[in-house]
Amino acid sequence: MNSPNARVLDQTISGLDPNAPVILEMRHIGKTFGAVTALVDASVKLRRGEVLALAGDNGAGKSTLIKILSGFHQPDVGTIILNGKEVRFASPRDARAIGIETVYQDLALIGDLNVYHNIFLGRELHKRTLGFQLLDSAKMRDLALTYLNAMGISIPSVDSTVDLLSGGQRQCVAIARSIYSSPNILVLDEPLAALGAREGGQVLTLIQNLRRQRTASIILIVHNYNQIFEVCDRINFLHAGAVELDVLTSETSEEELIRIVKSGVGRAAIGAATAARGAVAS
Ligand SMILES: Nc1ncnc2c1ncn2[C@@H]1O[C@H](COP(=O)(O)OP(=O)(O)OP(=O)(O)O)[C@@H](O)[C@H]1O
Ligand SMILES: [Mg+2]
Repeated sequence: MNSPNARVLDQTISGLDPNAPVILEMRHIGKTFGAVTALVDASVKLRRGEVLALAGDNGAGKSTLIKILSGFHQPDVGTIILNGKEVRFASPRDARAIGIETVYQDLALIGDLNVYHNIFLGRELHKRTLGFQLLDSAKMRDLALTYLNAMGISIPSVDSTVDLLSGGQRQCVAIARSIYSSPNILVLDEPLAALGAREGGQVLTLIQNLRRQRTASIILIVHNYNQIFEVCDRINFLHAGAVELDVLTSETSEEELIRIVKSGVGRAAIGAATAARGAVAS
């Protein structure tokens, strides 16, 4: 279904328009869980069509931040501004209704349902037959097939149950399911974590294809710097509950990032790295 050479297209992606509007701002978000402080003062900006990497050590607060964005948690302090207006989400349903879709690591797919029923989970299509309201499986199957093909997703068959798919294929189905409702913002929490190189490559290709279209903005939690540089426009590095580094991938390098992180992420380390970069440049 999918061209094995799809990743060759990766090079054709043009940079994000620097004037693309900021559609989301999370400002000075703080969150504690009892005695644990997960977020101290986390601020994030996201432009239309941008792919933003959220990186940082285990426990830095990445998942908490995106769970606040997806309405799963409420912040203790701080504000979320969407398209210039402050929003508050009491539940994931509120965030989804406003166009924010999140794919969590556990994916929320139903293993013993087939691919197309998973894609239409919670929004099944129906038809009336002899006065009865019945599931329109044929239509869901056709639409899912067309849709997955259009997204370049490689699945052996839309009839197979999801638990027969590989991890990478499952991740792609979960992303396809979220994209189907045309979100403004797609949030992916470690979509590559449990995948091998080949399967991870499939998911990266899918993200890259979405990035090329520049219709949805994407926040991607990812640990591997290599992958960040492959598919992201910008990186935000979280450390101890705050965003300590905000840089365009085109303006830094994997080596520089590693140097900053090794020297202990913190404003002082970033300042030193920036000064060193200036010294080299001049
Ligand atoms: N529901 C919760 N109850 C109590 N503590 C929590 C809860 N969720 C997160 N924490 C704590 O908040 C801190 C930040 O956790 P979070 O899951 O946001 O980190 P993370 O950056 O996503 O880490 P990882 O890379 O390991 O996924 C951690 O100390 C974690 O133990
Ligand atoms: Mg996490």
